Amino acid sequence: MTKISIWCRHVGDSIIGIGPNIPWSIPSDMKRFKHLTTGNTLVVGKNTYESFPNRTLPNRKLLVVYPDLDYEVSDKENHKVINNLEQLKDYENDLFVVGGASIYKAFYTTEGLKPEIAVDCVYQGDLPTNLSGDPVSVSACIEVLEKEYTPLPQTFTLDNIITTVWLKKNAFVSQEAVKKILNYLETEGK
Ligand SMILES: NC(=O)c1ccc[n+]([C@@H]2O[C@H](COP(=O)([O-])OP(=O)(O)OC[C@H]3O[C@@H](n4cnc5c(N)ncnc54)[C@H](OP(=O)(O)O)[C@@H]3O)[C@@H](O)[C@H]2O)c1
Repeated sequence: MTKISIWCRHVGDSIIGIGPNIPWSIPSDMKRFKHLTTGNTLVVGKNTYESFPNRTLPNRKLLVVYPDLDYEVSDKENHKVINNLEQLKDYENDLFVVGGASIYKAFYTTEGLKPEIAVDCVYQGDLPTNLSGDPVSVSACIEVLEKEYTPLPQTFTLDNIITTVWLKKNAFVSQEAVKKILNYLETEGK
């Protein structure tokens, strides 16, 4: 099993959301997320799950993290509620960790859950000033990333977003999974 995290954060403060919303809307960012995650299993917090249109992401299986296992999902066949992340330590398939902040933080601060691969997309633009809600940041995860991960030398710039792939130090990292990600990043936008 390979755990891959993917986020798009704001440069400097590592904000990923304001209230329930991602504060930018960049089609190539959404396309990248869709391409890299389609056909896979994604771990998602309940707030992020509820921010998806119709609470779904087509062609993906979702593990929705929430304390109440009776929480009603929108698609019983493809979405499952889990209330204990420990059970994912022995998960047999690849897992994409896709937020929000509480889920990223849990994965980055728990031994056995730390992703082997981080797809770190950094938005270079300004944040809008008209959104209401508290800012949500992944700065706690960035501290771990900078200490415990190594960035690959190539970076990819598209539509004001710079993407870097980081690999966990001293971990077995699937070269096949890395290759798939880099292949997409090398060709996106062309
Ligand atoms: N820019 C990006 O790439 C990106 C990606 C995803 C999300 N986002 C943004 O991130 C924000 C949402 O993040 P968030 O941290 O507020 O919410 P979240 O992580 O999506 O969901 C939080 C919910 O998950 C539950 N939960 C978390 N950890 C749990 C655990 N270990 N066991 C059981 N339940 C658990 C919490 O339960 P409790 O209620 O018990 O606390 C809470 O209800 C939004 O702004 C969203 O747009 C941005």
